Amino acid sequence: MRWLRPLGLALFWCAQWLAFVLTIEHGCPPWLAFALATCAGLWLVRRAADRTWAGLMRPLAFPASVCLTLSPIAVPSWVWLIALVIGAILYPRLDKKDAPLWRAPADLGSALARLLPQSPQVVLDAGCGLGDALVQFSRHWPAAQLRGIEISPLMRWICRQRLKSARIEAGDMWQLSWSGADLVYLFLRPEAMGDAQTKCLRDLAGTALVAALDFPLAASALASCRLASGKTLWLYRVAELAAPDRVLTPD
Ligand SMILES: C[S@@+](CC[C@H](N)C(=O)[O-])C[C@H]1O[C@@H](n2cnc3c(N)ncnc32)[C@H](O)[C@@H]1O
Repeated sequence: MRWLRPLGLALFWCAQWLAFVLTIEHGCPPWLAFALATCAGLWLVRRAADRTWAGLMRPLAFPASVCLTLSPIAVPSWVWLIALVIGAILYPRLDKKDAPLWRAPADLGSALARLLPQSPQVVLDAGCGLGDALVQFSRHWPAAQLRGIEISPLMRWICRQRLKSARIEAGDMWQLSWSGADLVYLFLRPEAMGDAQTKCLRDLAGTALVAALDFPLAASALASCRLASGKTLWLYRVAELAAPDRVLTPD
């Protein structure tokens, strides 16, 4: 039930606000109502032992929104409703291991072009977001077929506007096939890298290459480099993913 996750986040937040307002209406001092609603959130999240981004956002969203509403800038309450709607449009379904949008650094394409032994023919960006990485790839390898998979309709639409010639598919990268790509680029979350490695082994040819940004796979990399942003880019050959060995540390 992936789509229940963002909904659960929103309901949790609304319940804290409701508890806050109702306890004040019943005569509780506002500081105590705030502390009670915040502590209840922290207690529930601790029980769930959820260390993902959503797990961290859950206890922080309520105190942050109260502080901003009561602060000198006095963020009006309807802003939170709009934030919820935007969040739901951006991420209609998101699992624990799914990465939210972080944009590829501007030097990704040139760094990857230096690492690759030859130009790729079919490049897949699994979770292509706004298309930042694919736009760079299209400049470096104009003859390559570019393919992206993106779960968020809004980001997919923006990506398609930026890359008319690329094939941007709607859906869940874990359900759709990655086969046919000779280069797969991954900018995901640490929790997703194990599943990504299994998926590469299942879907890709042994000769295909996998580029992983920021979070490595459990295998020896063919090469790696550090980008200007401080992020590391690793390059792997699929045939060598089968025997998880060591994670190469960048020079
Ligand atoms: C960290 S961003 C990377 C964006 C892009 N690859 C880049 O480097 O600029 C991860 C993207 O993956 C998308 N995503 C997360 N989980 C997904 C899934 N299960 N299926 C498809 N897309 C997913 C998110 O919506 C987000 O746009």
